[in-house]
Amino acid sequence: MRKQIVAGNWKMNKDYVDSEILVSKLLETHQHSDVDVIIAPPFTNLLAASHTLKSTSIAVAAQNMHFAESGAYTGEISAEMLKSVGVHTVILGHSERRAYFNETDELLAKKVDAALANDMRVIFCFGEELTERKAGKENEVVESQIKNALFHLSETSWSQIVLAYEPVWAIGTGETATPEQAQDMHAFIRKTLENQYSATLADSVSILYGGSVKPANAKEIFSKPDVDGGLIGGAALDAEMFNAIIHSF
Ligand code: PGA
Repeated sequence: MRKQIVAGNWKMNKDYVDSEILVSKLLETHQHSDVDVIIAPPFTNLLAASHTLKSTSIAVAAQNMHFAESGAYTGEISAEMLKSVGVHTVILGHSERRAYFNETDELLAKKVDAALANDMRVIFCFGEELTERKAGKENEVVESQIKNALFHLSETSWSQIVLAYEPVWAIGTGETATPEQAQDMHAFIRKTLENQYSATLADSVSILYGGSVKPANAKEIFSKPDVDGGLIGGAALDAEMFNAIIHSF
């Protein structure tokens, strides 16, 4: 059985105090469910969040990391540093990292390798832009993003990988892919994994949808057979909305 996962990507939101408030609210209102819940606060709040959530069922993730172990990389954070504050999951390849920080598939492949070498779980994001979808190229784009960053991995490494399909045109825009569009793409991704690896592997990888998921649309999106949860931006900044999304399964 694939894991159902709801992950909150806080992006560059919430200072130290606000982050603590949101974590406490989430804890207060969180009811145990079979869904894996993950939150990704900014770096400055990872230590506090991982302390507070230590023996709970909510996991903490980083939004990015560097591929090197240590060294002269001013402003960067390594996998080891994340682990030292209790963080064992990292989001890689978010479209904002690709667009504003020039992260390429080649760079992401290195980051994925570094995360796996450190036994971390990776939430790997990818997705097409609006012009690409309009040109009917979404499958091609998604396939090449996955292939270039992940197809060098061995079959066993995939137990640490969660995929997050996030069409760029749906992120933070209020425009969501229809549940059918999400399902079609997720089925295509699974087929791509099956062709490269095996049906067993394809069936075991959780594929999340991201892009303007809200309590009002989560249920329908999550009801699709190949959608195993969501990567949530805006709605993850509100405890009630985030909880409502978790309970949409
Ligand atoms: P959004 O962001 O839910 O605000 O669209 C999703 C994401 O960027 O992961």
